[in-house]
Amino acid sequence: MASDTLVVEGTGSDVDDAWTAARRSLAGLPGGGLNIAHEAVDRHAADPGVRGRTALRVLDRDGDAHELTYGELARRSSRFASVLDRLGVWPGDRVATLLGPDADLYVAALGILKAGAVLAPLFSAFGREPVRTRLELGGVSVLVTTPELYRRTVQPIRDDLPGLRHVLLTGPMLDGLLDAADPDRPITPTAPGDAALLHFTSGTTGAPKAALHVHEAVVAHLATARSVLGLRTDDVYWCTADPGWVTGVSYGIVAPLVVGATAVADTRPFDVRRWYRVLAEQRVTVWYTAPTALRMFMARGGQEARRYDLSALRTIASVGEPLNGAVVEWALEVLGLQVHDTWWQTETGAIMLATPADEEVRPGAIGRPVPGIEAAVLAQGPDGRARIDDGHVTVVGGSAQGELALRPGWPSLFRGYFGDPDRTAACFADGWYLTGDVVRRDRDGWYRFVARADDVIKTAGHLVGPFEVESCLMRHPAVAEAGVIGVPDPAAGALVKAFVVLRAGIEPSRELRADLLGYGRRELGAVAPRSIALVPDLPHTRSGKVMRRLLRTRELGLPDGDLSTLENPS
Ligand code: WT7
Repeated sequence: MASDTLVVEGTGSDVDDAWTAARRSLAGLPGGGLNIAHEAVDRHAADPGVRGRTALRVLDRDGDAHELTYGELARRSSRFASVLDRLGVWPGDRVATLLGPDADLYVAALGILKAGAVLAPLFSAFGREPVRTRLELGGVSVLVTTPELYRRTVQPIRDDLPGLRHVLLTGPMLDGLLDAADPDRPITPTAPGDAALLHFTSGTTGAPKAALHVHEAVVAHLATARSVLGLRTDDVYWCTADPGWVTGVSYGIVAPLVVGATAVADTRPFDVRRWYRVLAEQRVTVWYTAPTALRMFMARGGQEARRYDLSALRTIASVGEPLNGAVVEWALEVLGLQVHDTWWQTETGAIMLATPADEEVRPGAIGRPVPGIEAAVLAQGPDGRARIDDGHVTVVGGSAQGELALRPGWPSLFRGYFGDPDRTAACFADGWYLTGDVVRRDRDGWYRFVARADDVIKTAGHLVGPFEVESCLMRHPAVAEAGVIGVPDPAAGALVKAFVVLRAGIEPSRELRADLLGYGRRELGAVAPRSIALVPDLPHTRSGKVMRRLLRTRELGLPDGDLSTLENPS
């Protein structure tokens, strides 16, 4: 389907490389081919020794646990695929989920993959504007969501989405359809290079991007689940990332199931005390979480931790934002465990740099490239990104600081931004994939995160594109222009802050500011600005772009640095 966006071929399955062991332990489809859902559930369901094992343990709103065995999950997700058949879904069609981490999500995600369709997960805390943009961008024809989210987020924009043919609502509607559907629907044969997942991510300019992944990505999910997280079949594994983001799918759904472990899913919002209880009561053995969550644990103090029996816990791993050394030391002291940092991106599809579960952690460092990944540090140009001269980059050896680059060819590398070959091509230079992150590498090959090389904001582990927030604010009748940055926050890493210039004749007031904050919350949901400053003007480059870098340095009281491209350095 997306051959026009396909710029990088995955490694062929005949290549004997670091991924070979993972490839060999995958089953493949009976008639040849590869399908993530087959590896995740049907293969296990076909094994009489595994069929009855708990695949998924969902904690509902009251904290009660509901279990699905591998056999049950296999049959129910096949029913889902057959519901999609009835809706006229074809292989390659995009089907989106706007759901929290409950059983319906797992059933839908696996069913979509079984139908050969492309799973496009959406963050359920998004407001209508980010949802509308993404459904449109992905050319989504079917959406699965809850009646409540439908009313709040989808119904108001439904008329703007002519391509959205069907909406499946969980509850009686979906249950009725599933009960009437075929539990033995065979999996649509998919090839390793066929599209499977569409993950939305944010850039510094322009609309969000939709990173396309293929079924072969499962090779990297399995390999890293084993080599980095140390996952085994007898593990009770909890990935706390929301399934609207890449981590929640790749390591919340795919990785634990492919391994054959038990995945825990908690449908309730974050709460330190309850999370401790989940870890203790569910006897979680491997916990994959985010620095923000760990920092909230730390803020609550060690006293709380001592009330729970965490003796089952063997591994804590973290992803999404810088894992500060203080948290690592706190966890070691209070939880008695190291926190293993992992670094990756929506585009890389799987963990690329890490301190594996069986390795000693160095507080403040991410770790080293996982087996099969070749990483490099590239010399930076004046804009902070890798310097490209005549199509060539400069690889810096030994201990170095610069933009992190990875050698394409690993199985979970994205195959392009859906429908956007130009932005896809911009991610590659001189035989490297450019990450946009600045790192420092020690003499012995350990990597540390330094900064993003662009203006993208990381808040509580989620990427927020400033452009998307700015464009939304500029649709408000009182707003002339907006500049959006991240300001440091001890817990969330960064919070979204907007600087807003009002239209001529409109007076700034406290009420207007509150109105703008409310408007942002309504339209954008979780990515809305937390604070808004009404300002008389914004700094611009000579080409007219808002200089977010300057907004940032001024907000932080730092020196302005090189302002030679600035239009109005007031
Ligand atoms: C960006 C990718 C892939 C999982 C989560 C989000 C930042 C990721 C780390 C880490 C410091 C990290 C980077 C990266 N990031 N892991 N261990 N230390 N920063 O995926 O939303 O595509 O975000 O998250 O800046 O480029 P994503």
